[in-house]
Amino acid sequence: MFLLLQPLALLFLTVLFLYPLFRHAYGEPKDCQLPPGSFGWLPLIGKTMSFINPHLSCTMGQFLEENIKRYGKIFRSHLFGHRTVVSCDVDFNHFILQNEDRLFEASYPVNIPKVLGDFTMLVMTGDAHKRIRGVALGLFSSMKTHEAATISDIDNIVVRLMDSWKNKKTLVLCDETRKFTFNVIVKHILSLSPEDPETVLLLDNYKTFMKGFVSAPINLPGTPFVKAQREHETRSWIRCLRSILRRQAKFQITNIVGKIRDRRRRQRIAAGGPEVDGRKDFLDLLESHGGLTEDEIFGLVIDLLIGGYETTAMLIAIIVKFVGNDPEILSELRAEHAAARKKKAGDEPLKWQDYKDMRLTQCLINEALRLGNVVKFVHRKAIKPVRYKEFEIPAGWKVLPILSGVHLDGSLHNDPFRFDPRRWQNEEVESARNFMPFGGGKRLCPGSDLAWLDTCIFLHHLLPKYSWKTQEEDDWPMSFPFLDFKKGLKIAIQPLSDPCPSQEQATS
Ligand code: HEM
Repeated sequence: MFLLLQPLALLFLTVLFLYPLFRHAYGEPKDCQLPPGSFGWLPLIGKTMSFINPHLSCTMGQFLEENIKRYGKIFRSHLFGHRTVVSCDVDFNHFILQNEDRLFEASYPVNIPKVLGDFTMLVMTGDAHKRIRGVALGLFSSMKTHEAATISDIDNIVVRLMDSWKNKKTLVLCDETRKFTFNVIVKHILSLSPEDPETVLLLDNYKTFMKGFVSAPINLPGTPFVKAQREHETRSWIRCLRSILRRQAKFQITNIVGKIRDRRRRQRIAAGGPEVDGRKDFLDLLESHGGLTEDEIFGLVIDLLIGGYETTAMLIAIIVKFVGNDPEILSELRAEHAAARKKKAGDEPLKWQDYKDMRLTQCLINEALRLGNVVKFVHRKAIKPVRYKEFEIPAGWKVLPILSGVHLDGSLHNDPFRFDPRRWQNEEVESARNFMPFGGGKRLCPGSDLAWLDTCIFLHHLLPKYSWKTQEEDDWPMSFPFLDFKKGLKIAIQPLSDPCPSQEQATS
């Protein structure tokens, strides 16, 4: 017993003596009109544990609720080891995102560059970021230029996936939507099909890669965050979080991509021409760009794999959950997709514009993004002293614009916690200041169109083919703060015999 008490006493005394030093290092600067708030009393950890405490993603969570009530929508705190200004204020969030590189820059927690390397867009800043971002935007616009091929690829992937459900009675939907979005993104980047051995290998390595990028955890044993994560991981197929494994996984991923690139180079030389089969995927476009180093090419491939996979998979799962609970919307949606289908001859695929014209589907996606909050917040830091209204933010402080804070703000959205796709019927989303699921400014998500197209096409095939029922009523999207369903969203499915179901079938 004594042996056990000794180290505890030592720890207590160390903390006691070091505390004034920590207070000095993490204390509040004098003569500065800081936003109101408190750093908490724990050195380093501050209030991180309350901030990352898991909660329903369609709620603010206790931390934000309590702080907003006490201090207002802009307040100071101590998060992820830094003095931080947290903002749930729509105007300040826009101010932060619009002043990228002038007053603020991206500042993701250290484990992200450690794992991803220095060539990921999340880590790059200034001109380096601008240059790589330009390349990424070019890739996505090439996807739009080859619209028919893009849509046909996604159609094929979703048809095969849903065919594989034929003899199943239940599904863990998040596993299925992850398979779907992963197969779509590897098809776009590397022209790999779901059954290619390289796809399987990539996915295996990729699974080790996926948690904590948008919101890095502090891994202290026994904390609610780590407990929640552990529960979540033992159940799900994403088991491995340790950074060493992630680094190995990154190595494997770049290795696989490198082998594909070398194979293509050899094929090109043998064929004496620049293209293998006439159509270019993202890797071909990056290779032919000329001005990119090998590290930059691999960095971008990893960025697109990360961005294009989990986020969209979760968005689709949120929609399936919400719509499954709303027979009226489900029935109208089926009718909307059936009407679009009827306008086409035979198997002719729908076009980009056909999807854009589906008004209710657009409203539904917006509402799922608003209420589901796939990305809760983004990480920024003040690069010089910033004055905003009556507040001053010292240089070096972290700043967290909370996107969900704007989406769930009752002064911006009527009845903000209610799922109501129709609220978007008369809104011009592109100019809506109260809606920022893809961030904003110089880091506005470049993959938003792909996420939107994936979601539309998935729904277009799901709606006439299957009816579904969620099996666990309490399995809602959770903010860990990365988004996931606690139980992966188990659903019972039933094939619909009529490919264009009647209203009665649709609501059953
Ligand atoms: C529902 C789906 C998605 C959501 C909610 C989402 C959300 C976001 C947000 C909020 C950011 C801004 C991060 C910041 O400001 O620090 C972002 C950036 C980014 N996203 Fe997405 N995203 C989605 C889908 C995608 C897809 C499909 C891709 C690619 C295939 C993608 C690739 C990226 C990349 C590369 C960045 C970094 C941009 C930069 O730093 O300039 N995202 N995303």
